[in-house]
Amino acid sequence: MAEAPAKPKTAPATSGAALEITDSRTTKTYSVPITDGAIRANDLKQINTGAADDPGLMSYDPAFLNTAACRSAITYIDGDKGILRYRGYPIEQLAENATFLEVAWLLRHGELPNQGEYDQFVHDITYHTYVHENMRKFLEGFRYDAHPMAMLNSTVAGLASFYPSSRNIFDPEERNISIIRLLAKVPTIAAFCYRHVKGLPFIYPDNDLSYVENFLSMVARMSESKYKANPIFTRALEVLFILHADHEQNCSTSAVRAVGSSHVDPFSAISAGIAALFGPLHGGANEQVLRMVGDIGDVKNVPKFIEEVKSGKGQKLMGFGHRVYKSYDPRAKIVKNLADEVFKVVGVDKDLEIALELERIALQDDYFVSRKLYPNVDFYTGLIYRSMSFPTDFFTVLFAIGRMPGWLAQWEEMLLDKEQKIARPRQIYTGPAERPYKSALSAPSRGKSTKQKDALRQ
Ligand code: SDX
Repeated sequence: MAEAPAKPKTAPATSGAALEITDSRTTKTYSVPITDGAIRANDLKQINTGAADDPGLMSYDPAFLNTAACRSAITYIDGDKGILRYRGYPIEQLAENATFLEVAWLLRHGELPNQGEYDQFVHDITYHTYVHENMRKFLEGFRYDAHPMAMLNSTVAGLASFYPSSRNIFDPEERNISIIRLLAKVPTIAAFCYRHVKGLPFIYPDNDLSYVENFLSMVARMSESKYKANPIFTRALEVLFILHADHEQNCSTSAVRAVGSSHVDPFSAISAGIAALFGPLHGGANEQVLRMVGDIGDVKNVPKFIEEVKSGKGQKLMGFGHRVYKSYDPRAKIVKNLADEVFKVVGVDKDLEIALELERIALQDDYFVSRKLYPNVDFYTGLIYRSMSFPTDFFTVLFAIGRMPGWLAQWEEMLLDKEQKIARPRQIYTGPAERPYKSALSAPSRGKSTKQKDALRQ
């Protein structure tokens, strides 16, 4: 029988270990237990000056650089070793061998599905891909040039209005059907967003096709009765969705957990994740990589661009750097190999040459090496998506489809975690002390702006 896999490298569960703290303000000492390599911030509250209005110590950690907000068994990352595992399975093996829906099941349930579980899951997803016809009217209300992430975000939030019973989040059946609906309907909504912007008729789901083939059909089918997806593109998209499926407590997952902690319905919590992912420092980076490569324009301009980045005037090398990975993002390696396969089919273009030159220079330049800035998952994905003719502003929508199972697994884990409650951080107040109200407005104008009448006349 195969040996049980060794537990991942986390700090040893040291029973009895403690942080001995001496407060120089009072010379008092405190013993704060250390568990799993962490102390509980709440244990610091006992440390105070003894003054009546002293609430006790807080921890201060803007952007949560070194703060664990939860315990999670879903994804393990070792940023120094470039390790990423979903429920213990190395990302390289899942990308090579699994299907996206198999990974979606694994992330939520913690184990790979058996054949019966998998077949039922695929059936459930397949038969929930349609959206209410009113969703069409909702989507048709957007301008032709609306950003598809703005469309996706508001449409997913709108799903909450079609499924009011989804607010019964502690009913396992309700949670299960909401998870199925989001996994099934988001590709449909994403494809409808694409078709709306292109001014093309919406293509409805085709239940004969696999998850990825069906998505490509809803995006690309024209007058043919049955869409035939390019198998290279189908496999590439399946792998990219797997690579994006989860990434522990990243910005968008933290948003889903924080909003979900108010016990709102899952559609609203997931729309918060989509909003966070839209940001250029997060999921929006793949779109920014293509814009950056486009602005560089030619391989010969790369050295000048690199110097601009190093000048520290704010230009970033998009697709490089990561809060956790201080070595190569393991997903970037896989995506780069995938790009090679795709470009064998569609041909190498000058943007890929520019990207390869950016990477070559950056990997040897001390400015990047000293800051441990390596290509992340977004660096090459945009080039692959573009080779499949997806428009640049659609790339982050593809990231959202991939990240959906991770958001949902993390949302459910948060809900079922007995330690969790509504997320409500503290603050260090830096504003003015108490002062008496004295208005600077003249009595007659109070309540309306003196500019108001001009506005009415214009
Ligand atoms: C994703 O968290 C996740 O897991 C995210 C993600 C996921 O799967 O969910 O992996 C997906 O969001 C990947 C990251 C995509 N974003 C980008 O590619 C945008 C470019 N990267 C950076 O903005 C930045 O690297 C971050 C936001 C990704 C990480 O920023 P950190 O950890 O807050 O690091 P930092 O901004 O404090 O930077 C440290 C130093 C600074 O220089 P100094 O002030 O010390 O001189 O590195 C510099 C930064 O200026 N720096 C960069 C840089 N990233 C950081 N300089 C140039 N180009 C960059 N890309």
